[in-house]
Amino acid sequence: MAEQHDLMELAKRRGFFFGSNGAYGGTAGFYTFGPEGASLKHNVESAWRDRFTVRLGNDEIEAPTIMPEAVFEASGHLDGFDDMLVECAECGESHRADHLIEDAVEDIEDAEALGVDRVEELIREHDLACPTCGAALAGEPVEDFNLMFETSIGPGSGQTGYMRPETAQGIFVEFPRLKEYARGQLPFGVTQIGPAYRNEISPRRGIIRVREFTQAELEQFIDPEEDEPPLGEVDDVGVRLYPASEQHADDGGYVDTTIGEAVAEGIIGSPWVAYYLGVAQEWYERVGVDMDRFRFRQHLGGERAHYAADCWDAESEIDGNWIEIAGFAYRGDYDLSKHGEYSGDRFTIFKRYDEPVTVEKAVVDPDMSALGPEFGGAAADVAEALQDLAEDDPDAFDSDEVTVDVDGESYTVDTEVANFSIEEQTESGEHITPHVVEPSFGVGRTVYTLLEHAYREDEVDGEERSYLSLAPEMAPTDVAVFPLVTNDDELVGVAEDVAGSLRKAGLSVSYDDSGSIGRRYRRQDEVGTPFCVTVDKDGLEGDGGPTVTLRERDSAAQIRLPVDDVAAELAALLAGDREFEGLSQRYDDVDTDVTTA
Ligand code: GAP
Repeated sequence: MAEQHDLMELAKRRGFFFGSNGAYGGTAGFYTFGPEGASLKHNVESAWRDRFTVRLGNDEIEAPTIMPEAVFEASGHLDGFDDMLVECAECGESHRADHLIEDAVEDIEDAEALGVDRVEELIREHDLACPTCGAALAGEPVEDFNLMFETSIGPGSGQTGYMRPETAQGIFVEFPRLKEYARGQLPFGVTQIGPAYRNEISPRRGIIRVREFTQAELEQFIDPEEDEPPLGEVDDVGVRLYPASEQHADDGGYVDTTIGEAVAEGIIGSPWVAYYLGVAQEWYERVGVDMDRFRFRQHLGGERAHYAADCWDAESEIDGNWIEIAGFAYRGDYDLSKHGEYSGDRFTIFKRYDEPVTVEKAVVDPDMSALGPEFGGAAADVAEALQDLAEDDPDAFDSDEVTVDVDGESYTVDTEVANFSIEEQTESGEHITPHVVEPSFGVGRTVYTLLEHAYREDEVDGEERSYLSLAPEMAPTDVAVFPLVTNDDELVGVAEDVAGSLRKAGLSVSYDDSGSIGRRYRRQDEVGTPFCVTVDKDGLEGDGGPTVTLRERDSAAQIRLPVDDVAAELAALLAGDREFEGLSQRYDDVDTDVTTA
């Protein structure tokens, strides 16, 4: 396991990630992915796209990152997307008040659920001090701080906009169009991979809590009464669950079970959420998360986001702490209903019945020649309000007069003018608001987990080394090619040809001719390159055509094989179709001293 500082040091030194804007003193909460990190992150996104978009038959979109205020009024983020802030009067540093309580008070794991007043009290009761300067925080006000970055759209005072705090809203607001592309049929899923922004009070721990980060989200739209997930695909997938009930119990622990059993026993309430936990479990395993340091934890009541009916987090263990790397929420019809209500557009799907049904319907047929002269420009709205009232409260038409509200004004109409009746109508279907199930992944936190779980230290040929045992699919570079020496034109020519042919075969290749061969191996080990090819003089002197050595990262074992076989063997190794161990039965092993000198 990597000490956190080892990993941060390696991440910076080898170009995985580093604090942004260093030349200007740095900006807390913003990180740049360097060449190795950008490549690793790209590989995580590709693997996610492959599993959650392509293989599930979903559509992917790319929406703007700035959205107008109205979107967030509707979504609830303007009102409810807050964290608790306490500011130190002495040094001016801001802190998450709930985190201070959780760190200091045993038994409190979810201080956010306690509310601002109680947290303020607890700071006083426990006499908590500022973690930065040590000054007392008792008496400092705790307030809700909205995490969205506000901006202005257009010049001048413009229109207020916000950087989206989750990619999900870019999908929800386009639902009226997206449903057309899905031909109006449920279930369907839409994905998006892109940046999200949160003005975190105290960004910390490298890329784990930052102010700009990448999310990979899937919004699965379902008919809650009819659509069922293909649970059979993941029935047997083993998972480690940490349900809310176990977190509350004094002697609570993990439930090691399968997805099928967890649903049958009601541990996971929503079969859709369970389905995605199963898919995610297999995906995390594929990309190289250490499954002994991984669990699904159910949210406690007070932790749930304002939109979520049930939520489970995927958590990975980092440096002795559990961090949330993805959330799986049953969002119900919250988002689509709200956007429908606030925008006036249709966030519903027309669900056709198997057979048309005859229903009794309360209708009005107002006499407009009476309403027009009486109410002028408001007459049409009054007629519409009468129809709404007829549907909601038909008894209101039992009296001689009926009153409706339009834009805050009351209008009274003779019941005879409203022309109320009950009619039999044939209906072929109804408009329903789909429910949403949402797997939401943090890409940066996945990258961090992969680095931390892949970090190893050992000794090779009497020398200590650290290396990243990344899954080949995730490694930033597929293979490194080294000429053993640089003063031999023939040898350098072969090495360049090998590198060129591997690139042509679609592999990402690093060509390195600087420093001792041992140092070159260490450099590649540290960035997780799974294979290295070395061209040496011995390989050019045999009778059967040129040969090179191929070295595997984790074992540091080497074999010698013909140049002509290299591309095909590497492709098979990288695709997981072949094991390196199996190759040593077909090709000669190489004494590592020869090429690590
Ligand atoms: N649409 C649902 C949603 O946004 P979330 O749990 O707030 O849910 C999803 O975020 C994921 O995004 C988290 O599991 C985490 O991996 C990542 N994430 C959230 N805030 C983050 C931050 N400040 N820095 C890095 N990643 C973050």
